[in-house]
Amino acid sequence: MTALSHASIIGVIGAGTMGAGIAQVAAHAGHDVWLYDVAPQAVERGINQVTQGLDKLVGRGTMSATDKDDLLARLKPASELSQLADCALVIEVIVEKLDVKQNLFAQLEDICGPETILATNTSSISVTSIASGLKHPNRLVGMHFFNPAPIMKLVEVVSGLATTQDVASCIYDTATAWGKHAVYTNSTPGFIVNRVARPFYAEGLRIYQEGGADFVTIDTVMRECGGFRMGPFELMDLIGHDVNYAVTNSVFDAYYGDPRFLPSLVQKELVNAGRLGRKTKAGFYDYHEEAETQQISDHGVVDRSIDRVKISGNCTAVQGLVDLLEKTDGLHLDIDEDVNYPAQIQIGNATMMLCDGRFATVRSRDEGIENLIHFDLALNYSLTPRIVLAKSIQASEDALKDAIVLFQLLGKKVNVIEDIPGLIVMRTLAMLANEGADAVFQQVCTIEDVDIAMKGGVNYPLGPMQWSDQVGLATIFDTLQGLGQSYGEDRYRISPLILKTVAAGQSFACLSKKR
Ligand code: NAI
Repeated sequence: MTALSHASIIGVIGAGTMGAGIAQVAAHAGHDVWLYDVAPQAVERGINQVTQGLDKLVGRGTMSATDKDDLLARLKPASELSQLADCALVIEVIVEKLDVKQNLFAQLEDICGPETILATNTSSISVTSIASGLKHPNRLVGMHFFNPAPIMKLVEVVSGLATTQDVASCIYDTATAWGKHAVYTNSTPGFIVNRVARPFYAEGLRIYQEGGADFVTIDTVMRECGGFRMGPFELMDLIGHDVNYAVTNSVFDAYYGDPRFLPSLVQKELVNAGRLGRKTKAGFYDYHEEAETQQISDHGVVDRSIDRVKISGNCTAVQGLVDLLEKTDGLHLDIDEDVNYPAQIQIGNATMMLCDGRFATVRSRDEGIENLIHFDLALNYSLTPRIVLAKSIQASEDALKDAIVLFQLLGKKVNVIEDIPGLIVMRTLAMLANEGADAVFQQVCTIEDVDIAMKGGVNYPLGPMQWSDQVGLATIFDTLQGLGQSYGEDRYRISPLILKTVAAGQSFACLSKKR
């Protein structure tokens, strides 16, 4: 089955935040669209919302006034559900309640012809459950857009137990024809994005709860070193803690209390306090007009000269940093890659290593490395304006100064945080990749689709699977193993897919396959 033709009429039911946006996407692609809502004013409001958005595009010169008028002419208000009888596809975008959705689809089965594809935009209800009461559950599929629908690229095409591959492929191809990046997923809790993204929030919350770093530091590091558009705390404040906490709880419950998805007491307290984020002007941050902006506090400049850097070990995970060191004037580099351990960068008294999921203090003792200073992962060591360091308890203050001075020489701001397992970016990436790997292992989706979903649904700078390959899957494995040892919790258990892939000396890319 290929994409629906432009002549196909699309029905959108529910004209709220998502429905209006989805109707706009379909009309933009050239379809006639019926927009229906149980609340009569909602349709008018939805069409006004679309019109205002398009006016902005015309104002900016990215859309012509004629194209805007044509698009709006294709977007028609429906006052009766029966007007959707001729639709080739009806997308349900109503309230997130199973019985209400089931009831609506039962009505649609009586109104629409047997060929009509029925789609749901649900973000948390099982597609299988929604379809269960239908006469023809095979034609019901999830078509999960992201907010705001006209802008976000991703559509998750969700197959329930009964959904036929023909129906899923048609929606996949249609979403692609509408300019979206489509991915296939099975109907499992959180689908891809809302499942794989949990550690983005959860690890940040944990680091904060354990006093590893304050939330301003974690946010800044995730943006500047990790390349994410927003840090976890500012993003949770934007989404609303009530919403984000509810999603975490629903995924946790849906996986029968798997500790991977354990909700955070810190977030629960914010919800208890009514500090829901931007919408209540208080969350982690204070959004009142008179509030002072909270700043990250960088380490002061260390005045000390260095010229000789010795690097030994396998540099794969830190190649970007080694390249940068090689390009830096005034440094004499002595590199020995013929030894089989993760790269050690020696400067003055300090031995610096990329963190590996253990406390630097424990690693220093276990491996007999003196003056060990951990540094965090960066998406791009050349471009990152800052770097995070943590000192093992045994290391001298003098060694820490040597490490700081090296990064300051490279033009980086330095933040020294507590000695915590996996630091900030490394730990988050390892857990994102671990969750992505489990989704693949459990046949929910493919490796590529994890990356497409996380880039298109939540704007990650790089897919976690591709990023892990760049760092080296063995390093991700070591980090997870270290986290497991440090915490002794099932939350950090390593995905069997990573275990097996690392044992084979392979990368995620070796496992890539299109469904
Ligand atoms: P909303 O509350 O903004 O809009 C829902 C609309 O559905 C309202 O206008 C309401 O009057 C209408 N409605 C309720 N029951 C109806 C019925 N029986 N028949 C016809 N219309 C009915 O909700 P929103 O945020 O647009 O969410 C809608 C769906 O999209 C939910 O399933 C939600 O989980 C999902 N979703 C929401 C996202 C978001 O960021 N808001 C993102 C992705 C999915």
